[in-house]
Amino acid sequence: MLKVAVLVSGGGTNLQAIMDAIDNGTITNTEIKVVISNNAGAYALERAKNKGIDAVCVSPKDYENREIFNDALLAKIDEYGVDLIVLAGFLVKIPEKLVEKYERRIINIHPSLIPSFCGVGYYGLKVHEAALERGVKVTGATVHYVDAGMDTGPIILQKAVYVEEGDTPEILQRRVMEQAEWQILPQAINMIANM
Ligand code: GAR
Repeated sequence: MLKVAVLVSGGGTNLQAIMDAIDNGTITNTEIKVVISNNAGAYALERAKNKGIDAVCVSPKDYENREIFNDALLAKIDEYGVDLIVLAGFLVKIPEKLVEKYERRIINIHPSLIPSFCGVGYYGLKVHEAALERGVKVTGATVHYVDAGMDTGPIILQKAVYVEEGDTPEILQRRVMEQAEWQILPQAINMIANM
């Protein structure tokens, strides 16, 4: 059984997709041990609690400096003895210590076809704003392993999504979630759980 920690910052629709996929058997051999957020108000924490999953906030605001926060985050994850860390809309730079300790055991979902529209400053809606501004006709999502860089780790899965006439960043974001993110993130976890 693959033991997983899911790290979130916001609404948690990707977390929901993972929980649903476990419930309906699309993901097998997998158990979410804990959901951790940097943001106490994240709706994702409610989603976890509703499922009876441990939901914890580790916020930088509660620590004197970044290093102490990083250590607290690492300690919280270690406490649950997980095999895989899934970044599902976790908008905090992952501490190097964590990357080193969990090498090839951290995956991230990014809402574009990497290497387009990724790296520092590209997160959430900003990614879709940039894609529309550039006028791309195809975008999508990527699941990749996390390394010390920003969105630079080895790619696991990608799925393309068409941009349509009249798209706003919000409309495009929703289509990318529905047609790509909510499919390839559960798929990647299932692959890892069964390899
Ligand atoms: C998702 O679109 C995810 O791909 C993105 O944040 C959103 C979180 O939504 N992540 C990044 O931009 C990471 N660079 P959710 O909380 O509803 O899953």
